Amino acid sequence: MSSKFKSVEELTLLEANKEISELIKMIRYYDDMYYNYNKSIISDVEYDKLRLRLNEIETRYPVLKNSNSPSNSIGAPIKSNKFKSVQHSIPMLSLSNTFNKEDIYKFIEKAKKYLKLNENVFDYCFEQKIDGVSLSIIYNNGTLQTASTRGDGYVGEDITNNVLQINNIPKNIGNIDGIVEVRGEVYMPISTFHELNNNNKDKTFSTTRNAASGSLRHLDSSVTASRNLMFFAYYINSNNNEINPSTQIEVLELLKKLKFDVCNYEHGNTIEQFIDYCDRIQQIRNTLDYEIDGTVLKINSLAIQKKLGFVGRNPRHSLAYKFPAAQAITVINNIEINVGRTGKLTPVAILDPINIQGSIISKVTLHNFKEIQNKKLSIGDEIIIERSGDVIPKIVGIHKKNNNPMIEIPIACPYCGSSLIQIDDSIDIFCPNHYSCPEQAIRYIIYFVSKQCFDIDGLGNKQVKELYDIGLVKNPIDLFKLESNNGISILNNRKGWGKQSISNLLLSINNRREIQLNRFITSLGIHEIGGTIAIDIADYFKTIDNFINANKDELCNIKKLGERRINTIIQFMNNDINLNFIKEIQQYIKIINK
Ligand code: IVH
Repeated sequence: MSSKFKSVEELTLLEANKEISELIKMIRYYDDMYYNYNKSIISDVEYDKLRLRLNEIETRYPVLKNSNSPSNSIGAPIKSNKFKSVQHSIPMLSLSNTFNKEDIYKFIEKAKKYLKLNENVFDYCFEQKIDGVSLSIIYNNGTLQTASTRGDGYVGEDITNNVLQINNIPKNIGNIDGIVEVRGEVYMPISTFHELNNNNKDKTFSTTRNAASGSLRHLDSSVTASRNLMFFAYYINSNNNEINPSTQIEVLELLKKLKFDVCNYEHGNTIEQFIDYCDRIQQIRNTLDYEIDGTVLKINSLAIQKKLGFVGRNPRHSLAYKFPAAQAITVINNIEINVGRTGKLTPVAILDPINIQGSIISKVTLHNFKEIQNKKLSIGDEIIIERSGDVIPKIVGIHKKNNNPMIEIPIACPYCGSSLIQIDDSIDIFCPNHYSCPEQAIRYIIYFVSKQCFDIDGLGNKQVKELYDIGLVKNPIDLFKLESNNGISILNNRKGWGKQSISNLLLSINNRREIQLNRFITSLGIHEIGGTIAIDIADYFKTIDNFINANKDELCNIKKLGERRINTIIQFMNNDINLNFIKEIQQYIKIINK
């Protein structure tokens, strides 16, 4: 049995050690995607489960806890050097959270126990949990001096110039001597988010949080200024003795006096009142023009907060209660089939558009045809879909079945008619017409010119589609024939193609007529053969001819290639269309051997 399915008590030391390193790897990866690339590729619930499991194993086997375990930190070290670094004088940590109301009682019991109290003497501040990006702002003698992101909690990025563009952040807070730090959440109003996405179909943001994060960390402050970002404050700290609130409620009142917008809050004395607050906020959630993902319970007294302190990266005095994923019922109107750049077919359910938590959902991916069979889906079914934060929506059940026949697995590509193939007993189905299937070709060319492949500047998705539609670039080889095929004069006569951009494009294409073997292998777009594994393949085979002629035994020598990938490569090389492509493209480019 895999250790993942064992309870923590059942794990041997060896299994615990292995699982800890796997969990750390996963958490670091998700943190990196989230903090450095603004991408959430896992739901909050799943992410929290990973962190919880790591915590539990580390508590059971403290000897295995590494000093740089993610349990001790938040976020990810900053990768980009777009902005200067700023050290936070007090770390910007994070709240522990729960989806379960029972846990709220347990949390307060723990706080009581920690302070050795028999009676509950706490009163509370209830707040909305804003789904944005945390920000620290330093005022020096009343004037905004520096503003920074949270980063990894200890070191953030200096985004002062961008923050100066946020209208509801005071640039001056009056005659206050010394240093004042204000923290809170930057967010993008939902209405702004929709407007932005509607006006910019090429590059849409998946959530208000991603949009806020991207806009806040933009290199051009005028772009930040155009994005209508807003700020809610919830924290103040100062070395000036006159700034001395004694409760969280007083903090918020003071912030209001200093002309900050503060998040919605209420004072309360019991957990029951907090639960009532959560229910009320959840009911009005859809009426707000900003996203919230829960509520926050804070012990009101700052003196008690100080005594309680922190455990790991979380305070013992405040807890986030996260709202459950939102669900809605709608109808499947049709099933469309997408063909990706590697030829993989993905069925997509086209829905009666439905509003879930402020986002209109009109389609949902079904991943593969097995999923249709498992869920016994047919057109006309009423289905339950779920959306949690910015994770892609999914079907979680059928509300009402329809008598229409189940959707069948196609045998021919709906775009080019080629017979479909399956690799081993994999659940995925592929169109093998890699270069001429119209649906596949555009996606493949986009991939071919991307950074990790030929890295050709000046060709965005829009330009590739245009070149394809006018018949100038039907496959990647045509890029290298652009000049000889009269491409320059054709483009010169088209709207949107200036002389400079055409000559830059040609320069970029010509600069790529020599390419390293590993990049070339990546560019072939073989399913599951990306940039990292292509390096190992190139290191092993040294030349493209050796790779083309590889047999199974040789491929087995490459450690990272499992059975499935090996079979994918063999199937790719057994296809004459692919071999001809590799042969023909070498008339125009030179592959540099390893
Ligand atoms: S208090 C120790 N109050 O949620 C951190 N945070 O993981 C204390 N957030 O990092 C933060 N609304 O970015 C607090 N009303 C609120 C909040 C809030 C949103 C964010 C903040 C924090 C994260 C919690």
